[in-house]
Amino acid sequence: MTSSQCAFVILPLTPADAPEVSRIIDSVHLLAEVPIGPRWSSQQVDEECRGLGWILRDSSNRLAAFVLLRDAVSAWEITFLATAVEVQRCGHMRKLLAHLVAILPKGQALWLEVHEDNVAAQHLYEVVGFQKVGHRPSYYSDGGAAILYNYE
Ligand SMILES: CC(C)(COP(=O)(O)OP(=O)(O)OC[C@H]1O[C@@H](n2cnc3c(N)ncnc32)[C@H](O)[C@@H]1OP(=O)(O)O)[C@@H](O)C(=O)NCCC(=O)NCCS
Repeated sequence: MTSSQCAFVILPLTPADAPEVSRIIDSVHLLAEVPIGPRWSSQQVDEECRGLGWILRDSSNRLAAFVLLRDAVSAWEITFLATAVEVQRCGHMRKLLAHLVAILPKGQALWLEVHEDNVAAQHLYEVVGFQKVGHRPSYYSDGGAAILYNYE
C-alpha cells in the first residue's frame, strides 16, 4: 500500500454531506448483526447534518466515516457514528474519534450511549479512552440495556 492510499482528511460536517451520510446509515442498518440504534428518515438525516459533526474522507475523497453530535451546555453527545461497511476495520473511526477528543473544548464532556449487544462499538470507545459510566436497563425497545460512556 502506498502512502497516498492511506491519505485521509477530517473535516467539519456540512449539509451537503447528507446524501453520503444517508448511504452509510442505510448500509450499516442493512448489514447490522446487532442493534445499532433507531433508523432515521432522510429528513432526520438532513437535520442531523445541519448540526455539529465531523467526517473522514479517504484518498478518493469518499466519505468513509462520520460522527454526529448534539451540542448541549458543557457537553457534546454523540447521537450516531458509523463507518462505511466496505472500509470498516481500517482504523477510520479510531482516527475520527481521536480527532474529536483532541479538539474537545476544555471543560466540555463528550458522552454517548450504546446498546449492550453492540460489542464492536464498545471496544472502539474503550480503545479511544472513553470510560463506562452508567447502565440503563431495558432502555431500548427490544428490552436491551444502554451502556453510557463518557470522555473528559
Ligand atoms: C463501530 C464502527 C463505527 C467501528 O468503525 P471502524 O472504522 O470499523 O473502527 P476502527 O477500524 O477504527 O476500529 C478501532 C477499534 O475498534 C474496535 N472494533 C472495531 N470494529 C470492531 C469489531 N467488529 N469487533 C470488535 N472490535 C471492533 C477494535 O478495538 C478496533 O481496533 P483494532 O482494529 O486495532 O482491533 C463500525 O463497525 C460501524 O459503523 N458499525 C455500525 C454502526 C454502529 O454500531 N454505530 C455505533 C452506534 S452507538
